Amino acid sequence: MQELTKQTRELTASSVRTWDLPVRLVHWMFVVLVFASWLSSEIGGNAMTYHMWVGYSILALVLFRVAWGFLGSQHARFGDFVRGPFVVARYLGGVLRKDSPHFVGHNPAGGWSVLALLLSLFVQAATGLFANDEIATEGPLAGYVASTVSDLLTTVHRYNFNVLLGLIGLHLAAVVFHLLVKRENLISAMVTGRKRLPPGTPVVEGRMASLWLAVVLLAIAAAAVAALLNFA
Ligand code: HEM
Ligand code: HEM
Repeated sequence: MQELTKQTRELTASSVRTWDLPVRLVHWMFVVLVFASWLSSEIGGNAMTYHMWVGYSILALVLFRVAWGFLGSQHARFGDFVRGPFVVARYLGGVLRKDSPHFVGHNPAGGWSVLALLLSLFVQAATGLFANDEIATEGPLAGYVASTVSDLLTTVHRYNFNVLLGLIGLHLAAVVFHLLVKRENLISAMVTGRKRLPPGTPVVEGRMASLWLAVVLLAIAAAAVAALLNFA
């Protein structure tokens, strides 16, 4: 549990502002876009054009989310939720106890799953740029590397999709575990931005970053991906 410091207060209200709008929008866009990228790759043919555009969007959103992890609101920051291995082990060791702590942002295990999900999304989109389907489709950077390298990155693109599916499965299992066992509805918090916690829980005041900053960072991330495509 967060230490009670000057920054924290005892929760008296039933819910606390946790996830800002950019975190929530980006999250639900990931869900839609990952489904769209799988569907378009299954359909193949002309749908591969959509597959690539969906992939560029995911790449821009991952870049934005990483920047937001340093400059965004309190609970969006990596510094808020990335904890050392001992904290994670202690959390996991006591997770089934009735009095196990509640967290306003990501819990110590969830923090690492967020990093793993973002890394896997990044690897998937980045390898896609160099991938080829041996027929008509190739990523915009495939021509810049030897065909053996492109083939290798295509294999990584295929395998990493299974890694991503595994991480998403684990992610959903954790969310369902919290709902059914810990009686904590994390999903509604990801929709409304407000998390319901038992009264008396020590919470860190959630400082919200400016939405304009989010717009600027998203524009920079999109421009970086567009510049990459223009260069290619
Ligand atoms: C393609 C599928 C998905 C991906 C790639 C994904 C990815 C992520 C990521 C990266 C985060 C961290 C949010 C942040 O700090 O920016 C997150 C959190 C979260 N996701 Fe997902 N997600 C997926 C599907 C879902 C679905 C279907 C649900 C709901 C049923 C869900 C519920 C949540 C919740 C509740 C959190 C917050 C967890 C917490 O309170 O610590 N996710 N997800
Ligand atoms: C995170 C975003 C992405 C996801 C989730 C994704 C997912 C997939 C999946 C599931 C496949 C089918 C693999 C198979 O045949 O078993 C595939 C194939 C492919 N993807 Fe992506 N992809 C993404 C981004 C991209 C991007 C950005 C590009 C290029 C600009 C790209 C280019 C390709 C190509 C050329 C193939 C065909 C390779 C083959 O024959 O297996 N992908 N992708």
